[in-house]
Amino acid sequence: MNRRKFIGASAAIAALALKDSVLPSHVVAARTEPDFIPMPEIDASGPIDPQAFAPDSTPAADRYLLPTPNRFGGGSLVQALAMRRSTRAFVNRSISTNILSDLLWSTWGINRQDGRRTAPTARNNQNAEVYVALSDGIWLYNAGRNQLERKSRQDIREKTGPAPVILLYAAPDDSDGAMTVGSLYQNAGLYCASAGLGNVVRSSKLGAAQNALQIQDEYKIWVSQSIGWPS
Ligand SMILES: Cc1cc2nc3c(=O)[nH]c(=O)nc-3n(C[C@H](O)[C@H](O)[C@H](O)COP(=O)(O)O)c2cc1C
Repeated sequence: MNRRKFIGASAAIAALALKDSVLPSHVVAARTEPDFIPMPEIDASGPIDPQAFAPDSTPAADRYLLPTPNRFGGGSLVQALAMRRSTRAFVNRSISTNILSDLLWSTWGINRQDGRRTAPTARNNQNAEVYVALSDGIWLYNAGRNQLERKSRQDIREKTGPAPVILLYAAPDDSDGAMTVGSLYQNAGLYCASAGLGNVVRSSKLGAAQNALQIQDEYKIWVSQSIGWPS
């Protein structure tokens, strides 16, 4: 480094230090706190959801009980943010049901005893549905029962992805619905980044899903999210 560059760099460092010193005292103080957040006690037996105790009206052939999600796994959130990106090409390798369960729980699972979720919603209205497009149809994620419920037998993945797994996000056709869906696909995208999975969100190519599913009134499918092991 020549003298001129050195003086320039020194001035920049000095300016940063000066900037640091004028930070409000509570910001500076926060840096001395421990760099971990104590984990709350979570009842490993699962959330209390009245729906989980009601009779299950879904025929046995159209429901799939997911493995219990691993709520203590994964890497650091900051590493996941560093790795987050869109991936559009996937290898032909399936995703285990354990990973699918963890992915769905991260996306829209119940994380508290009162039935609240991993994503916020306006006034906790929980107005959102996550569907999973697989080779044997399109399944609704029922977080309370931790199960998938088949709503269509069509394989739409080639037309929507292609990808081994495609999540479909349905929510009310208003601004709250759009914001909720954004929280959900970001949860899923960060889980994917932490698990080494690739994903891409798409607001295009939704026709096949719209034709295959009877979405409830006032709802629409906002986006799909193709997920698989990156090629
Ligand atoms: C709401 C939304 C809609 C998108 N729609 C499409 C799409 O239809 N097709 C596509 O290939 N990518 C789509 N993307 C992905 C963006 O192109 C991608 O996020 C952007 O290029 C930035 O790249 P990155 O995610 O790797 O940072 C969409 C992303 C969002 C958030």
